Amino acid sequence: MNPAVLSLVVILAVSVNLSVSKDAAQETVSKHGQLSVKGANLLNKNGEIVQLKGMALYWSQWKPQYWNAETIQGIHDSCHSNVVRASMAVEYGGYLTDPEGQMKLVETVVEAAIANDLYIIVDWHEEKADTHQAEAVDFFDKISKKYGSYPNIMYETFNEPTTQAWSSTLKPYHEAVIKAIRANDPDNVIIVGTGQWSQRVDEAAEDPISDQINIMYTLHYYAGTHKQWLRDLAQGAIDKGLPIFITEYGTDNVDEVNWVDPEESALWWTWADSNNLSYTNWAICDVNEASAALIADTPTDKVCQADYLTESGKLVVAQNQK
Ligand SMILES: *[C@@H]1O[C@H](CO)[C@@H](O)[C@H](O)[C@H]1NC(C)=O
Repeated sequence: MNPAVLSLVVILAVSVNLSVSKDAAQETVSKHGQLSVKGANLLNKNGEIVQLKGMALYWSQWKPQYWNAETIQGIHDSCHSNVVRASMAVEYGGYLTDPEGQMKLVETVVEAAIANDLYIIVDWHEEKADTHQAEAVDFFDKISKKYGSYPNIMYETFNEPTTQAWSSTLKPYHEAVIKAIRANDPDNVIIVGTGQWSQRVDEAAEDPISDQINIMYTLHYYAGTHKQWLRDLAQGAIDKGLPIFITEYGTDNVDEVNWVDPEESALWWTWADSNNLSYTNWAICDVNEASAALIADTPTDKVCQADYLTESGKLVVAQNQK
């Protein structure tokens, strides 16, 4: 090969891999350690850009059978993840009515994540958290007191706000919860929910939380429903320097008929990887929904093993290895 052709090949080879994306199962806490946020990027203990890829647990009160150590190990070993999101239900029989039972589930999966070298996002999974601020503050105070010294832990203060205003309602709520967490944990990453089911990262970019370190903002999407317009909106927020974490995404269309959309999923992953964004897939469960990763009655010790994956689960596990 002549030198000119060789250098062209080198340039092409480099330019197709400008993201940090790789098999997430190899990129765990023992390697990357304490995370931090700088500009729009998530960094590891050495100040290098890091990408987390993994799975979200399904609603804790409806699928508690997947909130255990065996499943968490499977999420690392077989789902090829370096992060898991613990989507702890607040309403509908969740934390508000069963705080002890829900806390126990959260503690079980946090301890399993630490044992399996995974990052874990503790998610206050509801849509009206601003009306339960005192309960959220108390919950995050307890969690951060118990686990805030581990680099594994991240906090997600509010899953999906709906129509609440960012500046007058959501931002003050997040600031109250952040204050409670920071009293116990000075530096682990805190991810805050954004308006309209965690899509309006543009509103947060106009009025971000100030005087705090290691804050990220949530973006959620379902690939077949939320398309280029949402990527464009999010890109605008990133270009303004907003650090985004995709704590929930589905491969499917959630309009009327519920089906997996591989083409739009690929577009979303390409976009997320090109921005080094981290993401956790909805969800580890065996329910009859296109976004479920597991086939019906998947045993907890078979989570993400090849014979037990749905169409969506297969796509996601392959993506986590790229
Ligand atoms: C993603 O990370 C890689 C490796 O650190 C870096 O070269 C690239 O510029 C990053 N991309 C963006 C959009 O920040």
